[in-house]
Amino acid sequence: MKKAKPTKSTRLAYQSGFGNTFATEAVKGALPVGQNSPQRAPRGLIAEVISGTAFTAPRAENLSTWMYRMRPSAMHAPFRRIAGGLLRSGPFDEVETPPTRLRWDPLPVPAKPTDFVDGLASIAGSGEPAGLAGIAVHVYLANRSMRDRYFTNADGEMMLVPQQGTLLLATEMGKLEVAPREIAVIPRGVKFKVAVDGPARGYICENYGPHFRLPELGPIGAQGLAQKRDFLAPVAAFEERGGKCEVVQKFMGKLWAAEYRHSPLDVVAWHGNLTPCKYELDRFMAVNSVSFDHSDPSIFTVLTSPSGHPGVANCDFVIFPPRWQVAEHSFRPPWFHRNVMSELMGLVQGVYDAKAEGFLPGGVSIHNCHQGHGPDLATFDKASATDLKPHKLENTLAFMWESRFVFRPTKFALAAPQLQKNYEAVWDGFRRHFK
Ligand SMILES: [Fe+2]
Repeated sequence: MKKAKPTKSTRLAYQSGFGNTFATEAVKGALPVGQNSPQRAPRGLIAEVISGTAFTAPRAENLSTWMYRMRPSAMHAPFRRIAGGLLRSGPFDEVETPPTRLRWDPLPVPAKPTDFVDGLASIAGSGEPAGLAGIAVHVYLANRSMRDRYFTNADGEMMLVPQQGTLLLATEMGKLEVAPREIAVIPRGVKFKVAVDGPARGYICENYGPHFRLPELGPIGAQGLAQKRDFLAPVAAFEERGGKCEVVQKFMGKLWAAEYRHSPLDVVAWHGNLTPCKYELDRFMAVNSVSFDHSDPSIFTVLTSPSGHPGVANCDFVIFPPRWQVAEHSFRPPWFHRNVMSELMGLVQGVYDAKAEGFLPGGVSIHNCHQGHGPDLATFDKASATDLKPHKLENTLAFMWESRFVFRPTKFALAAPQLQKNYEAVWDGFRRHFK
C-alpha cells in the first residue's frame, strides 16, 4: 500500500486543526496569561483583537483572535483610491449575464513584472460585498513577490487554489507555504503579502458570505472527507522593517492604499481561532458509490459557506481527486444534468473525467443555473461502451465552486481571447439511437 505523502510544505512550522483555538508566541513570554487585555501587555506589546463573526454569533461559529503586536493596526496614513486593474466586484452588472455555457483556456502569466495584487483578474461572481452574500472568482497571475506592499480584503475571505508555482504567504498570524494540490484560506481583514518562486497562477474564491467551514458528515460518520487535523494554521512569526510600505485594501469592491511606516505583520504572539489555514487536498478521503450509479458531487465537499437556508450553500468547495471508480452497470462520469445550483470549475492538474479534451489545467468553466451540460460526445461514447472493471482515475485534480447564486462573468472574461468560441460544440453530434 502506498504510504500517505507528507505535506508538501515541511519547511515551516504549523499547528494542526480546523477552527481550533491556538496560542502561539514567537518570543517567549509575549502572550499574556489568563486575560486578553492586561493594562500593559507583556514585553511592551500592544493588544488588538480581530473578529470574524458578530460578537454574539453562536459559540460553535464564533471567530476572533487577540494579537500582541508592536504597533496598532490603526496607525497609518489615510487610504486613497488606486486603480484596480482587472479586479472586479459584486454586483457584477458590467454586462448582461448570458445563459451560455462558458469555458476558458488558461490565462497566461504576464511577461512584465507583476505581483499578486497587480495580477488579479476577475472571471465571474455573484452577490456583493455590502450584502454579505455571494462570491467572486478571480485568477492570480504573478511573477514577482510583493515587496513593500501588503494586501487585505474587507469584502471577503479568500480561498487560494494554486495551479502553478508555490506561494509563500506571510500573514499577521504567521507564514504558510501553499503549493499546487493545496489550498489556503485567509480570513476577511487579515493582512498578508505573497512571495512567488517563479511564474504563479491560481484561482481565488472571494467569499462575501459566511466563512468557510467543514461540512456536516451526516450518515458518512466521523471518518470521511476532510479531517480537522489536516488543516494547518501558522505559528506566530513577526516581521520588522524600516521605511515606508503600503497596505492595499479591497473595500466595497475597490482598491485603496495607505502608507505605513511599520510592518503590518508585526504580531509577536496571538491566540484565538480566527486564523489563515492551509490544507493539502490529497489528504481528502473520497467517499463514493461502491455499488452502482453516480453520487452527487456534494459527496466531495471540502469546505462550505452556508446560506440562510439549510442545505443550500452560498458556496461549496468541491474537489474531484484521484479515486477508484468501481460502480457496476453504471455510466461512471457525471450524467447530463441541469441544476438549480450554479457551477464554476477549475482544473489544477491532469484531465477531468467528464471531458475528453479542451478543459486544461488553469482553465475555467461555468455552467449556470439550469443550463444543460454533462459529458462531451467522446466521453459519452467511451463511458457507454467501456468494460466496467475497477478503474483508478490518477494524476488529476479538478474542483468546483458551486453556489446558489448565478455566476455573472465580467466584461473582461467575456472578451478574453481565452474564451473558447466553440465550447458548446462539445455536445454536438449525439445521434438518435431510440428504438
Ligand atoms: Fe455540472
